[in-house]
Parts: sequence; C-alpha cells; structure tokens
Amino acid sequence: MLYQQLVQWAQEVWNTRCPDQNSVTIWASAECANRLAQTQVRPGRKLRRKSRYDGFETLDCPVIVPISDYGTRGKKMVLTSSAGAFAFRFTDDSGEPFEVIYACTYFGDDAQDLTAIALVPEDKLDTWAAFEFMCARTVRPRIRRRRDVYIIGGTDAFFDPTVEWDDVILSEELKTKLLDDMEAFFTKGVDLYRQLKLPPFRKLLLAGVPGTGKTMLCAAMAKLAIKRGCVVVYVSGADRDGASFEKIQRALQAVTAARYPVLLIVEELDAYLQGDDKARVLNVLDGIESPNNPKGALMLATTNYPEAIDERITKRPGRLDRIFIIPPIHDEAQAELMLRHYMADQWQDDHQKVIARLVDQPGAFVREVALHARMLAAHEHCADVSLDMLEKSVTSLLKQVHSESDFLNPRRPISMVSSSSKKSSSRNPFGWKDESED
Ligand SMILES: Nc1ncnc2c1ncn2[C@@H]1O[C@H](COP(=O)(O)OP(=O)(O)O)[C@@H](O)[C@H]1O
Ligand SMILES: [Mg+2]
Repeated sequence: MLYQQLVQWAQEVWNTRCPDQNSVTIWASAECANRLAQTQVRPGRKLRRKSRYDGFETLDCPVIVPISDYGTRGKKMVLTSSAGAFAFRFTDDSGEPFEVIYACTYFGDDAQDLTAIALVPEDKLDTWAAFEFMCARTVRPRIRRRRDVYIIGGTDAFFDPTVEWDDVILSEELKTKLLDDMEAFFTKGVDLYRQLKLPPFRKLLLAGVPGTGKTMLCAAMAKLAIKRGCVVVYVSGADRDGASFEKIQRALQAVTAARYPVLLIVEELDAYLQGDDKARVLNVLDGIESPNNPKGALMLATTNYPEAIDERITKRPGRLDRIFIIPPIHDEAQAELMLRHYMADQWQDDHQKVIARLVDQPGAFVREVALHARMLAAHEHCADVSLDMLEKSVTSLLKQVHSESDFLNPRRPISMVSSSSKKSSSRNPFGWKDESED
C-alpha cells in the first residue's frame, strides 16, 4: 500500500527533524501542494490568533514522483497542482516554531485525484487547519452570495444579465420549452439525479447561425435564474486568453463550490473542442469530471458553428441532454415583431413593405437594418424614417452580408442566409432533430 510507505517515510523524516515532539498522522488537503497556493500564500501570513505561516521546504521522498499539472493564468502558463513532499514551517500562538511534514501524491495510475497525508503536532491541528483552508481558498474560487454573476475570462462588460425575457423575439413555443426545461430541472430533476446517484448536471446546447439571439437568450435566462435563487457562472473565450480548458476547469470549480443552484453559461462551446482540450471537455460532458453541486447545475452552451461539434457529442446520449436550434426569423409575423421592436417610435405602417425581405435573416440583421435606416434619417435631418430609407438600408446590408460571406468565410457553409434561400435549410441547417419542432 502506497500510503503505508508514505506514512512510514514521513515518520522517519519526523523523527530526524522533530525528535522531541509527538505528531498525529492525518489525511490532508491536496491544495497545500498546489503551486498557486504555494506562490500566493506567502511566508509571514497570519493564520489563527497569533500563529503564522513561515514558508516551506521541498523534501525528497523516494515513493513520490514529483509531477505537476499546468494551466494558464492571465497570459502566462503556470504550474498548478503538484505531487510532492514538503515541510511546512509555522510559528504558534506563543511564538514557538513547529513543522508539518506533508506528502501529496496520486494513488494508482489513473492520475485523477491527488491524496495527501500530513504529520502535525497534535496540539497544532487548529493552525494547520487554518493553513489548509487558506490554500484551498487560493486554489478554488470561493462563491459567497456577494455576487449573482461570476465571469470567467473577461470583465463584467462581457455579460450583462439584464435582458427581459419578452424582448427576446423567438417563437413562444421554443422559449417556453427552454424555460420549462430549466424549471423542471431545478424543481424535480435535481432530486432525480441524486436518487440515481448522479451529479445533478444537465447540459443544453443552443445552436444557430450568428446573430439569432443565443447570447441574448442566455442573458434573459440568467436574469430569470438569478430571480429564482441561482448563481450564474459565465465563461467567455472572447478575452485575450481565448478558449482554454483551464477556464472550463475554473468554472467547474466555482460550480462545485457554490452553495446555490448554478446556471453555467459556456459561450461558443465549439471553440473548446480543439486539440488536447477536446478529450477533457468530453470527460466533463460524460460525467467523469462533472461538477457535483448538490443543488444542481444547468449548463447552457452556445455555438454558431455546430458543424465543429462532432457526432461523438451530439449523437451520444448523455453528453448533451438537449439541443435547441435557435433559428433565424421564420415568418413575416415574426419579422414584423422584430422590425417594430427595433424601429420603436419610428415605426410607420408603410414599413411593412420591407418585411418579406427580412424573413430568414437573423435578429441581429433586423436590428442593424433599423439602426442604419435611423442613421440615414438623422444624416438627412429628417424627423421620420421613410420607407425609401428603410429599403435602402435593407438593400445595402444584404449586399454587405453576401459579399462578406463570400469573401471572408468561403469555407463556412453557415452564415447569414438570404431571403431567397430555401426555408428548410435556413431553419435547421445542421440536420439535427430540432427540439423546437417536436
Ligand atoms: N431573437 C432575437 N430577438 C431580439 N433581438 C435579437 C434577436 N436575435 C438577435 N437580436 C439582436 O441582435 C443582437 C445580437 O444577437 P446575439 O444574441 O449576440 O446573437 P448570437 O449570440 O446568436 O450570435 C442582440 O443583442 C439583439 O439586439
Ligand atoms: Mg453569441
């Protein structure tokens, strides 16, 4: 048994270094060996009452192969969790120095979980516990209900859950299905998962061409989730660090640490499915590395490029629980709603004439059309947006969209679709079963 060898080794070290003191052997927290904790919890740090941490020394332990994991922090690559042996030095309340002999390693070859033991003077357990707690807090982001939204990768400006549910213009049926799914999961699903001894982690994917309102929908869902007591963890790959698995990992730690139900939003999931990260994301989706938050975690992932999410994910049961296709505008009634919404008080009845040209376009297109027309009016010092201006705006934006999709993205089959393209292909260009159509 490896732990017997480990304890024996630690006892021998103890007997040479602290021959006059008694110790107890305890299972310890693996976070004390974490490189982030070791660099951020500095010597001199106060612990409990007057006790303090004084630094550490790396020990050579014949039964541990020192090995570290690594990940990104800011722009740098840094070492993270480590297997290794250390002597941690402390000063107790009365000014007496003492040491803790600590060893942390992988048991078995599957290299999943680090396990650690420590030899601690019996009357110093309080100080040691305070140190363990501090290391753990440094490694794992702590979630207290000080905030409703935690953003990983980016600033608060990346995500603002203030969108009203009613402002998202999509079929009522689709919206209701999505909302019902969230409600059912948090009210009944979580208990069901627990009865089946599964971590309550449900995974939904919103897929659609760019600009159909997926991000907007996430923000509106987040607003409702917060209202029903959830914490929102939002992961963005849009900052300088890009889409790295380390972000997903940090998000999952936050999800696990939260003492509240969590809505986890992962934008552009396809971007994380590249290189070595792919296998790790699959592990998360498969449940091997799923977060275990007893209150439940619902993941809402989005993708503009579902062709990058291969069949191993979409067709294998359990990896994604449901896929919702978020379609472009599907009929004239919806186009009118959208145009009226974005024209607001500038709306005139004759604007209806452009509506047919908006069908099959994503919502973002209509918003741009309205904005552009209103700019034209302002430029020409007109109080109202004439039909002519609106038509010009549609024409010029359609032209732009076509030239962009030919010019910038020749390989991407999915881009904003023109109103002349076939309806079926634009509604569900991915060939998946569309949850909104059953
Ligand atoms: N279904 C929609 N209803 C209302 N506005 C929309 C819709 N789709 C897009 N928009 C407008 O376009 C903008 C961009 O959409 P976004 O949610 O970022 O699209 P996606 O994430 O699908 O690429 C939104 O902020 C909103 O102003
Ligand atoms: Mg988006």
